Amino acid sequence: MMISLTVVSLALLSVANAATTLDISAIEAHFQQALIVPSLLPAFTPTAVLSVAFSGSAITPGQALAQADVATKPVVTVSAVDGTTPLTGSFTIAMVDADVVGTDESGGVSRHWLENAVTLESDTVSNASAKTITAYAGPGPASGSGPHRYVVLLYQQPSTFTAPANLSTLVDGVQKFDLTAYVKDSGLGDLVAANYFTVEVGTDSTSLPVTSSVVTSTLASAGASGSGVKSTGTGSTSAPGPSGSNPPNGGAASFKLDFASSVLVAVTMMVLLQ
Ligand SMILES: *[C@@H]1O[C@H](CO)[C@@H](O)[C@H](O)[C@H]1NC(C)=O
Ligand SMILES: *[C@@H]1O[C@H](CO)[C@@H](O)[C@H](O)[C@H]1NC(C)=O
Repeated sequence: MMISLTVVSLALLSVANAATTLDISAIEAHFQQALIVPSLLPAFTPTAVLSVAFSGSAITPGQALAQADVATKPVVTVSAVDGTTPLTGSFTIAMVDADVVGTDESGGVSRHWLENAVTLESDTVSNASAKTITAYAGPGPASGSGPHRYVVLLYQQPSTFTAPANLSTLVDGVQKFDLTAYVKDSGLGDLVAANYFTVEVGTDSTSLPVTSSVVTSTLASAGASGSGVKSTGTGSTSAPGPSGSNPPNGGAASFKLDFASSVLVAVTMMVLLQ
């Protein structure tokens, strides 16, 4: 029995480590459900999956975490989709506070982390030759301001990248900036991959938009728990969105997830029966 369980765990691990188009669909759906798209990002079509690990624990998309657990810089790993060209070159990594669901981001977002010229060493983001503009500063949302969405972003950084004058050297402390303008003006490349988590301090006194029950529960097998958004209190996990509408990809993603779960169950049964 022990041996069988070990084999099952290994099978699950190897499935978790290989990025698939299903993983891409799932993270796209998460960003849409949390309204990070389009509030923060006009669009999100990643080509890789970003694993963000604090003290050895990789977050699930939208996971609600304690402020103390995210106080120090995470280890970030990138998995390109199986069979695609490995990621090479320079990248810019950033973390911004997209605040609570429904926030108007046009006034800018707080920048908690910004490093140019990071590289990938065995798929892990390395700062060996990086230029730190804002050193990682852990989340510190105001008490009672609700669950803030912290978004970690990895952009390809082409050789033509030119940092704006006011963000070309180390800038101390968390500051607001216009992420969209920064990406455009500096000539950053594609948003390769991103992930997010939420942190809430104190008791929420905000009134966030009422949400409708959509596909979060069917995405649970991809780690949709704790998306940090308000539910209508029906007992099911909800995601925000226009009333009664499913986010794009949601249906397709949930079908594929169900299929993936079935495959996992089948693999588990086969191993156990051996
Ligand atoms: C890389 O990050 C570590 C941990 O934050 C820091 O101590 C180190 O100074 C950084 N190195 C460079 C070259 O920025
Ligand atoms: C940097 O300068 C641009 C204008 O070039 C301005 O819009 C932006 O607010 C400035 N950012 C910071 C952090 O001072």
